[in-house]
Amino acid sequence: MTTLIINIKELLQVRENHIPKISGRDMKQLPIIKDAYLLIDDDTIVGFGTMADCKKIEADTIIDATGKVVLPTWCDSHTHIVYAGNREQEFVDRINGFSYEDIANRGGGILNSAEKLQQTSEDDLYEQSANRLQQVMQLGTGAIEIKSGYGLTIEAELKMLRVIKRLKQNFPLKIEATLLAAHAVPKEFKDNKEGFVDLIVNDMIPTVANEQLAKYIDVFCEKGYFDLIDTERILKAGTAHGLIPKIHVNQFNAFGGIEIGVNNQALSVDHLEVLNDSDIEVLKNSETMPVALPSCSYFLSIPYTPARKLIDAGLPLALASDYNPGSTPSGNMNFVISTACIKMRITPEEAINAATINGAYAMGVGNMYGSITRGKKANIIITKDIPSYAFLPYAFGSNHIYKVMINGQFI
Ligand code: NIG
Ligand code: FE
Repeated sequence: MTTLIINIKELLQVRENHIPKISGRDMKQLPIIKDAYLLIDDDTIVGFGTMADCKKIEADTIIDATGKVVLPTWCDSHTHIVYAGNREQEFVDRINGFSYEDIANRGGGILNSAEKLQQTSEDDLYEQSANRLQQVMQLGTGAIEIKSGYGLTIEAELKMLRVIKRLKQNFPLKIEATLLAAHAVPKEFKDNKEGFVDLIVNDMIPTVANEQLAKYIDVFCEKGYFDLIDTERILKAGTAHGLIPKIHVNQFNAFGGIEIGVNNQALSVDHLEVLNDSDIEVLKNSETMPVALPSCSYFLSIPYTPARKLIDAGLPLALASDYNPGSTPSGNMNFVISTACIKMRITPEEAINAATINGAYAMGVGNMYGSITRGKKANIIITKDIPSYAFLPYAFGSNHIYKVMINGQFI
């Protein structure tokens, strides 16, 4: 079954060869073909070029994309979309003057979500999460990483990870799972954080690895959560069980977490709202992808990751949503790229590179997703009629998506 898309106004992120990631130096370039065609066989991209070269191509289905831009679907490398209920009351509390930290200190925040999740049945949790996943897919996300971390007990963490497994079985988009057992210290371990880290290292990691419920290990490395020693211990235990590190770090404080991530071969270090020059130096000598989460900064009114500085230092950058009930109740990657352009002063080319190829790298799926390359999955966004691709981040409030194709099928 072949599908031919013709008369594409601009075909974005076209790469003849697979590139694992794009460094800051090259992020300004977004390769495009104007007046293009794209040929898909079953679920795979098999050809592309200009309309002048499309004359003799035949296909089972032909789609006319006159006036439309075509690009790879977003690769959202950092989300927490499996959660129970919402936290709109905390949102109102913050408007009324409480900080995110105040709310966490009085037992709200992550602990609030954990309580809700523990009381929610697995089927109900699945339904709530599936709804969110369906929504983000319609917004153009074609590969997504999903973390546990609202369980805080072994049973509840396993429940979350089983829900992710079920989502993988029932949805066509690419999903990777991350064990984020060290997301917050549960009430029962309030005065015994080490006991909780013991539980993670001795029970949770081995069980999750044995049942192959996660590919990555994550830690919220932050003051009041998990320190450098906890982080290193958990990452090493994860690695020993075949899990790959990806960490939450430098969201509110910079105290060396990035170095711990890099030394433990983290695939990505995420958040980075607060960065030292020494953190940038550490990243320069690594294969670790820095990941910015601009919707989180927007929602919490905290600083934006200094993306310009990272890119100008020659580092690659990925953009992700951080979709979660507390700091980012949105998984809209279109908003993420707009916000990155508007608030972090990165160009549309840089933002699109960050949300496609570099996002794919940050979740370890770059071999099959993130660019228009022969052999990669046919996961594409077809926009409505727009003047040019820069219009996508520019007109930030509108939905520019006409159709989303995942594995060669329109959803
Ligand atoms: O990535 N920073 C830690 N974890 C989440 C937020 C968790 C929550 O508030 O529920 C984040 O922003
Ligand atoms: Fe997060």
